Amino acid sequence: MAASNPLIGQILPHLTQLTPYQAGKPLEELERELGLTDAIKLASNENPLGPSPKALAAIQANLLSIHRYPDSHAYYLKEDLAAYLGISPQQLIFGNGSDEILDLLIRALVPAGGEVLSTTHTFLMYGLITKAVGGVFRPVPLKKLRVDLKAVAQAVTSQTRLIILNNPNNPTGTVFYREEWEEFLAALPANLTVVLDEAYLDFADDPRVPSGLAYLAEDRALVGLRTFSKAYGLAGLRIGYGYGPSPLIDCLNRLRMPFNVNRLAQVAARAALTDTDFLARTLELVLNGKAEICRELGLLGLEYVDTQANFILIRVPIPGRQVFEAMLRQGVIIRAMDAYGLPDHIRVNVGLPQENRRFLEALQQVLGING
Ligand SMILES: Cc1ncc(COP(=O)(O)O)c(C=O)c1O
Repeated sequence: MAASNPLIGQILPHLTQLTPYQAGKPLEELERELGLTDAIKLASNENPLGPSPKALAAIQANLLSIHRYPDSHAYYLKEDLAAYLGISPQQLIFGNGSDEILDLLIRALVPAGGEVLSTTHTFLMYGLITKAVGGVFRPVPLKKLRVDLKAVAQAVTSQTRLIILNNPNNPTGTVFYREEWEEFLAALPANLTVVLDEAYLDFADDPRVPSGLAYLAEDRALVGLRTFSKAYGLAGLRIGYGYGPSPLIDCLNRLRMPFNVNRLAQVAARAALTDTDFLARTLELVLNGKAEICRELGLLGLEYVDTQANFILIRVPIPGRQVFEAMLRQGVIIRAMDAYGLPDHIRVNVGLPQENRRFLEALQQVLGING
């Protein structure tokens, strides 16, 4: 079809084969489709508390400046975040979401035909961006739904340009531990770049989970990715960051668009960093909500995966897509997992207590289980 359409005849052929990323269904869309006004969304691992109040105040205070371009180097945010993390500003890069930094890393490091090693059942953007640059995405199977770092290290070939790992892993919520991670790092060739996506690290309460930051070094090819989208409640503003050795970060900064992070996102992220009360309330809400949902799932006889993130992967007795569709009709948006290779699972993120209850009631109804 591509070849016969003169409009796209010049497009690189592999691009016509890309599977678009399927985002969580927007609340507004479901409400429009079903004529509802009280739908809830527990599908994109967003912060149920809303945005950080300090971030909101900073946005309001800066609204009258949006006719000006943003600071292309995010100077103040970079200074603040570097001090907060205890690293140098030269070791930081900001992106229009951490998604963008993934894109930059893959574009910078993976030539056409180059190999990106990651795992099965992980964030779909890794494979999508790799394929977009003509790279080869090689997912190593999880072991009991956990990342098998030994198998990943063994899968490295002379063609491997990048390894991307997600800890805690989306959509399983599972983690690898410090010891496994250190053994893994020690087993790799020194010039092979590892990307550690820590989008959900803020929610991990197991002290054995490593923070990539502890392994940041000017002579180590390791880049950590973090986001303001989840624990800080700023998903709609699009801001995330990467930390890594300054020469590599410098190259990524040359590659990015000059105004990739907008003005409001910069001021909001700066303010959110200081909003320790909001972060503490978020973590408390997520940890309590997660315990409550898991307890109820257990009572309903449903199997779920032990999670260190703000979401739960649940095995369902009928196809997950069917559960997703039926839950939509109840005004509850969750995520089907067929695109992630888990057709008999659904993923739900922790919401407000009343949202969690509504999810559990709808699930019971859809599955015909009496609680
Ligand atoms: C594992 C993982 N990495 C990265 C992202 C992207 O986050 P951002 O909103 O910062 O682009 C997500 C978003 O869902 C994610 O689940």
